[in-house]
Amino acid sequence: MKGIVLAGGSGTRLLPLTRTVSKQLLPVYDKPALYYPLSTLMLAGIQDILIISTPRDLPRIAELLGDGEYLGLRLEYAEQARPRGIADAFLVGSEFIAGEPVCLILGDNLFYGHDLPHLLRRAIAAHAGATVFAYSVRKPEHYGVVEFDQGGHPIDIVEKPHQPRSRWAVTGLYLYDQQVVDIARSLRPSVRGELEITDVNRAYLQRGELAVVRLGRGHAWLDTGTPATLLQASQFVQTLEERQGVKIACLEEIALRQGWISRDRLRGLTDQYASSDYGLYLQQLSEASVGG
Ligand code: TTP
Repeated sequence: MKGIVLAGGSGTRLLPLTRTVSKQLLPVYDKPALYYPLSTLMLAGIQDILIISTPRDLPRIAELLGDGEYLGLRLEYAEQARPRGIADAFLVGSEFIAGEPVCLILGDNLFYGHDLPHLLRRAIAAHAGATVFAYSVRKPEHYGVVEFDQGGHPIDIVEKPHQPRSRWAVTGLYLYDQQVVDIARSLRPSVRGELEITDVNRAYLQRGELAVVRLGRGHAWLDTGTPATLLQASQFVQTLEERQGVKIACLEEIALRQGWISRDRLRGLTDQYASSDYGLYLQQLSEASVGG
């Protein structure tokens, strides 16, 4: 399975913060926002990853993450010239996808939950058609909302409904089989001029090939798209990290635990972080004194 992080967009809700900087490079507590979705793909076991962003922001993102070799990843980069919608990721990324199944994650989404890696790996192993992950939210009208029948099967998905038929919002994490590029090619832009991911999901639903996995209350799904949610995400990460003494979305740690890099390799990566808290954490990890 290949992975795509969609990290472009206009970030208008965060202006003036995003006047000169991508929202995916803004800090969520102690690391750039982009680390969180990237870590989710890594925890799912995905190593071939395409990062899509704007012509303005892509060079900075590539400078931050490089070719990914030091993390056991193969990172590639592609420009989305204009924010043409989330489903445009499959047109921009069609060559990279090359007929394989793909996991798409939005660059401003943060997922956290104790069995999430297991859940994702299971969904990937059993994968056919499309799988989306739904989360119960207080204001479903801001999202794509899933309607279920009495048996709990999805029967409709509606983008930003005025009268939501459930509280289950579709999150920014999606698994698709090799049909997705053709489906994206067949879409017409919506009234807001975007290729809508909800239309991709509806196409799979109509074929009877959409699975909706509900993330229960043991999970956190946050996004960093507004000043308030950016701050809330930072506070969430700070609270857990300070309490537990372990980091969320430390890419080097995940690479180590996945067996993609050695402890020696990790030791070699620590110097560039000088005496920052992140660097100190990596140093302790390389000496095997964090988290066992
Ligand atoms: P949104 O938050 O829906 O859009 P945005 O980033 O343009 O922000 P705003 O609404 O404040 O103007 O995007 C969700 C994620 O998808 C985010 O990580 C940016 C990314 N994205 C793209 O990369 N390209 C796109 O065409 C769109 C619509 C979003």
